[in-house]
Amino acid sequence: MDYLAIRQDYRSRQLDETSVAGDPVELFQSWLKQAFEAGITEANAMALATATRDGVPSVRMVLLKGCDEAGFVFFTSYASAKGRDLSENPVAEAAFYWRELERQVRIHGKVERVTRGESEEYFATRPVGARIGACASPQSQPLRDRAELEERFAGVAAQYPDGAIPLPEHWGGYRIVPQRVEFWQGRPSRLHDRIVFEKGENGGWGIRRLGP
Ligand SMILES: Cc1cc2nc3c(=O)[nH]c(=O)nc-3n(C[C@H](O)[C@H](O)[C@H](O)COP(=O)(O)O)c2cc1C
Repeated sequence: MDYLAIRQDYRSRQLDETSVAGDPVELFQSWLKQAFEAGITEANAMALATATRDGVPSVRMVLLKGCDEAGFVFFTSYASAKGRDLSENPVAEAAFYWRELERQVRIHGKVERVTRGESEEYFATRPVGARIGACASPQSQPLRDRAELEERFAGVAAQYPDGAIPLPEHWGGYRIVPQRVEFWQGRPSRLHDRIVFEKGENGGWGIRRLGP
């Protein structure tokens, strides 16, 4: 397939310094809502970049499960590769891409664990299978084969026949506390809008436009 010949001209929307609310979290929430309303499946999926202490990067998709003034929350195994990165280098960047709206958002900041209470609250909302899976999967560790994973799953299911699966010790949420949030709106002739919010020393948000 000759994908080099495909050129999409972005023209449906625009973004300027005055049309933003002055608060990146509010603007993000309205963009996420519009992405869901546009029918995008898993519009809350984001690419999450972390790095080791030495700066070796990794990126993978995770689902955003909460977003307010405190930050952007996702859930995972603390013992995973990303969990190891975040324990030695607690910063991350996340990127959303909503093609149908010609939009990208990047969120950069320090990362902290959410409280165990918050993780318990979220864990309880997960379907039984997803709770068993979180207990059973040695995320990012080698498995002998598929059967080993299924045996582990069956083992946890047998341990909790009533489905009352407690939050595993190794599992929970992280919050990206935003330091910089960039909103990108595709425009014709590659003259895209890029508006960046950066947290100042006084805790307020500064706004800048960057070249596309
Ligand atoms: C759309 C999508 C959403 C995902 N959401 C999550 C998630 O919320 N949490 C998670 O731990 N893994 C999620 N995954 C799996 C991760 O991409 C990744 O495989 C896993 O977390 C292990 O990553 P690591 O070895 O870099 O830690 C998702 C994958 C996809 C494709």
